[in-house]
Amino acid sequence: MQVTLTNQALNAVDVDALFLLQFEADGRPATPSYGALRAANAEWLNDVETSGEAAGKLFETTVLHRPQGFAAKRIVLAGAGKAAKFDSSTLRRLIGAAVRKAKSNGAARLAFSLDEAFATPEFVSAAAEGFHLGNYELDTHKSKKDERTEITGFHVVVAGKPDHLQEAFFQGNVIGEAQNFTRFLANEPGNLLTPPVLVQRIQEMAASVNGLDVEILDQAQMAKLGMGSLLGVAQGSPHPGFLAIVRYKPAAPASPDHLALVGKAVTFDTGGVSIKPADGMEKMKYDMAGGAAVLGAMRALAHLKPAIPVSAFIPIVENAVGGNSQRPGDIVTSLSGRTIEVLNTDAEGRLILVDAIEYAKRQGVTHMVDVATLTGAIVVALGHIHVGLFSNNDAFRQQVQASAARQGEKMWHMPLDDEYREYLKSPFADIGNIGGRWGGAITAAYFLKEWAGDTPWVHLDIAGTGWLDDNKPYMPKGPSGVCVRTFVDLALNWK
Ligand code: BES
Ligand code: MN
Ligand code: ZN
Repeated sequence: MQVTLTNQALNAVDVDALFLLQFEADGRPATPSYGALRAANAEWLNDVETSGEAAGKLFETTVLHRPQGFAAKRIVLAGAGKAAKFDSSTLRRLIGAAVRKAKSNGAARLAFSLDEAFATPEFVSAAAEGFHLGNYELDTHKSKKDERTEITGFHVVVAGKPDHLQEAFFQGNVIGEAQNFTRFLANEPGNLLTPPVLVQRIQEMAASVNGLDVEILDQAQMAKLGMGSLLGVAQGSPHPGFLAIVRYKPAAPASPDHLALVGKAVTFDTGGVSIKPADGMEKMKYDMAGGAAVLGAMRALAHLKPAIPVSAFIPIVENAVGGNSQRPGDIVTSLSGRTIEVLNTDAEGRLILVDAIEYAKRQGVTHMVDVATLTGAIVVALGHIHVGLFSNNDAFRQQVQASAARQGEKMWHMPLDDEYREYLKSPFADIGNIGGRWGGAITAAYFLKEWAGDTPWVHLDIAGTGWLDDNKPYMPKGPSGVCVRTFVDLALNWK
C-alpha cells in the first residue's frame, strides 16, 4: 500500500476516488479545489446543490462519476461541516469516514485534496492518522473476510511544494499505524493472547524497530522483589504473570526528566472469585487496552525519537478463577511494603498497577502516566466519550491535557480530594482495594495515588473509551486505541 503526500495538479490525479472538502454554505468562499471542479462540471454541481443532495454536512459524501476534465474516476464531495468549526480533529475523522465509505464502494486508489489553508503540519499529520484509523478491520480471525475493497493507495494532495510537510506526514503515518497496532492487540481474545503470548508480542514489536530495550520480570524475580500485590492476582491463572519494561533512551537527552508510561494489561478479567456476571464478560479481553496503548506509543516513539527518555511498565496477568485464586479477605504485601486487604478480587487492575508504579519510581522516573480499563464507574460517569483523568500535580496534568487536546482525544479532569481516602479504610490492612458503592472511579484512582506519592502523576481510566460499542462514520466499533496519540504528543513536545 502506498501512502503519499504530493502536489499534483488536481485534474491529473489518476485515482478511483478523489475527495474534495465541501463546507456547509455559510458565506465562506468555495475552496480553490472546489472552484476547479465547479469550472468543469457546473451543471452537475448546480443540480446537487440546489436539490440539497450535497449540503456539506459533516461526513456526508456525494459522488460524481466520470467527472469532466479530471483523470479521477470519481470525485467525492466530502462534507466538512461548518467552516468555522473545522479543525485537524474534524479532518482526521472526515478522512476516516471517507476511507470507510470508499471501501464499501469499490474504490481502491484514493486521493484527498487539502486546500492551501490546511496545508499545515497539524493537518497533514491528522490526515495520515485518519487514513489508518478508517482503514482498520476487525476480521483478523474470520476465515472469510468481510466484503470490502482493499485500499492500495492513499494520496494527500496539497497545493505548493509539500517538502516542509513531509516530516509531519510521516509522523502521522507512524502514529496511525501504532494506534492500529494497539487496536489489534486489544481485540485479541483471552485464549490467544495469554500473558506469555503478550510478552512474545512485546519482544517481536521491539525487535521490529530500532531503539527499544525490553526487560521481562518473571514470577520468580517478582517474588524475590516482593511484588505480592501483582502476584496475588496472577496466582489464580495457569498462565504466569509478568512485568514488562520497555525502554527508549534518546542519544542526547534534552532534559533530566524521565517519563514513565504504565499500562494495565489483564489479558482476560473474569473477576476472579468475585466473579463477573456472564452477560458481556466476553468484552473483558480488552482489559489489556492500557498496556496495548503504552506499547503502541513506544512503537511510535522508536520511530520518532523524542528528546526525553520514556520507559513503559506493563504488568501482565490473567485474572482467572481457580483453586489457587486469591480470596476476598486475603491480605497481600505490595512492593512498597504497604499491605492491602483484597476485599474484591475483581478490583485487580489497581493491584497490579501499584507494584508497577512502585517499580517505576525505583527506576528513577520523574513523571508517570498510567492508563487502564480500570472501572465500570468511569463508564457510568463519562460514557464512551471522555477518558477519565486524575492527577496529583496541576502542571503535569495540564501538560497531558494540552497533548490530548492537540490530538483530539477527549479527557475529563476528575476530582481526587483527600476526603476520598476514608472510603478505602480497611480494619485489617493498611488499605482496602475497594471503596464501596459510590465514586468508584475516584476511589480506584485514589488507591493508585497512594503509591504515586509525590511523583507528578496522571491516571487515565479508559474503561469507557478503550472500546467503542457502536460503529462511527470514521471508525468501526471495537478497540479504539485511545491514548496512543496523546502519549506520543506528550513525549515529542516535552516542555
Ligand atoms: N476491568 C474492570 C473494569 C471495566 C469495566 C473495564 C467495564 C471495562 C468495562 C475492572 O477490573 C473491574 O472489574 N472493576 C470493578 C471494580 C469494583 C469491583 C470495585 C468494577 O468496575 O466493577
Ligand atoms: Mn476486574
Ligand atoms: Zn479489570
